[in-house]
Amino acid sequence: MTHPRPDLALQALADFWVDMGLEEARALRTWRPARSAAGSTAPAIRPPSAPRLPADPPPAQRGAPRKINNNPINDAKRLASQAESLAELRAIVEQYDGCPLKKAAKTTVVCDGAFDADVMIVGEAPGGEEDARGLPFVGRAGQLLDRMLATVGLTRQANVYITNLIYWRPPGNRDPSPVEMQMCAPFLLRQIELKKPKLLLTAGKFATHAMLNKEDGIMKLRGRKLSYMQDGMAAIPCIPMLHPAYLLRNPADKAKAWDDLRTIAKLCDDLGIKRGAAV
Ligand code: URA
Repeated sequence: MTHPRPDLALQALADFWVDMGLEEARALRTWRPARSAAGSTAPAIRPPSAPRLPADPPPAQRGAPRKINNNPINDAKRLASQAESLAELRAIVEQYDGCPLKKAAKTTVVCDGAFDADVMIVGEAPGGEEDARGLPFVGRAGQLLDRMLATVGLTRQANVYITNLIYWRPPGNRDPSPVEMQMCAPFLLRQIELKKPKLLLTAGKFATHAMLNKEDGIMKLRGRKLSYMQDGMAAIPCIPMLHPAYLLRNPADKAKAWDDLRTIAKLCDDLGIKRGAAV
């Protein structure tokens, strides 16, 4: 859910982090969201313009006992730009300590599937099973996603690459915050640059809103052929899907998901993306 005052929510979150001893969060207390002309707060990932950044941090205190990482979003951008391959990027994300979610997570969950796949799926964030195994979409929702994709000949073994907006499990599977999305965004944008997928699929409302800068509900956006735009790249066709976790809770909507899969299969064929046998 979008918070009506993300700046206040972020301040409260940063205060909490600072109270918990996380000095890096001090820099985030001064962050203010950018406003569009219409006055609404833009989403966390907005290609092609640069992600909104926290205000410049205060100068480091003299004699500070340890190195303070004052701007984790800038660090993420710098580190992401250094990756020359998906394997390098994965290693870089695993080493990145800027996102406070990492402290409570067991693993860093970056990606799964074929590095040379033409289809790239972006989900929201790892859940408990994903955190335990270090792979995206391997819990019940992920198993449903695999079964759905297999019906149109798409598998992570052959032609699908899967990642998330967020690389560490949010405690209690809560929604990711805008600043957590901003910290992870440079790594996602670089994955897309390196991968150059022919087709993007967004799973659920968070990924759809963040990637496409749309605010319509997922029920309106699902199954539509839209375009993802990123600086320096040609537009990439993108189809939003209902999140498999939603389908587990609302099985009656699986018929809609099936319609969307047929749209996806047709677009794969139009784009020359090879599909395997449907199972
Ligand atoms: N839900 C997601 O969005 N991503 C995962 O990896 C698992 C569940």
